[in-house]
Amino acid sequence: MPRWRQGLTKSLHQSRSMPESRYFQLASVDEAGMPFCRTVVYRGLTDNNQLMVISDTRSEKYQQLSDNPKAQVCWYFSKTREQYRFSTLSTVITLEDDTTLVTAQWHKLSDAGKKQFLWGEPGSVRNDERALTINGHFEDVPTHFCVILLAIYEVDYLNLRGNPQYRERHHLDKNDNWSSQSLIP
Ligand SMILES: Cc1cc2nc3c(=O)[nH]c(=O)nc-3n(C[C@H](O)[C@H](O)[C@H](O)COP(=O)(O)O)c2cc1C
Repeated sequence: MPRWRQGLTKSLHQSRSMPESRYFQLASVDEAGMPFCRTVVYRGLTDNNQLMVISDTRSEKYQQLSDNPKAQVCWYFSKTREQYRFSTLSTVITLEDDTTLVTAQWHKLSDAGKKQFLWGEPGSVRNDERALTINGHFEDVPTHFCVILLAIYEVDYLNLRGNPQYRERHHLDKNDNWSSQSLIP
């Protein structure tokens, strides 16, 4: 297991009482090179170091990541004062691509979580302020529900504790080996 992964496991454990420690920022770029950043929920890390996120194929991020899979994750753990900046290559997985994975993630959601996928097109104009109605059933996985896998190939870690602060970079080489280097913060 790469050293940064052992560290991340520890950070998550130490912050387990803080729900907000399971949110991170995910940045992608549009076709004009404009960066877009948003908060998403961490849904796990696969054995081959891919961060898992759930999302909607009708969202802007789906189009951006489909056109350009480069994505960056920035994750700050306020309790331990650590920042992880992950450089990643993303893959968007739909129900058609991997029924088992996508179905399993859908069924892990609460009803309130599922509702967010059944309110209509995200980002489209809302014409009135009446309550939104649900379109679909909680048992059925909507075809627009998707899983984003973010394969990590570089980690920029910063720990604000201590003076000087501690920073290191971890890089995955062509032979799939991780190398680490301590950096001036
Ligand atoms: C705390 C928090 C958690 C969120 N989690 C997710 C998530 O897991 N997946 C997701 O697609 N959007 C999530 N969102 C909404 C996104 O931040 C964003 O507003 C939405 O996905 C539209 O982004 P886009 O137009 O760039 O695709 C979350 C927002 C907040 C504030």
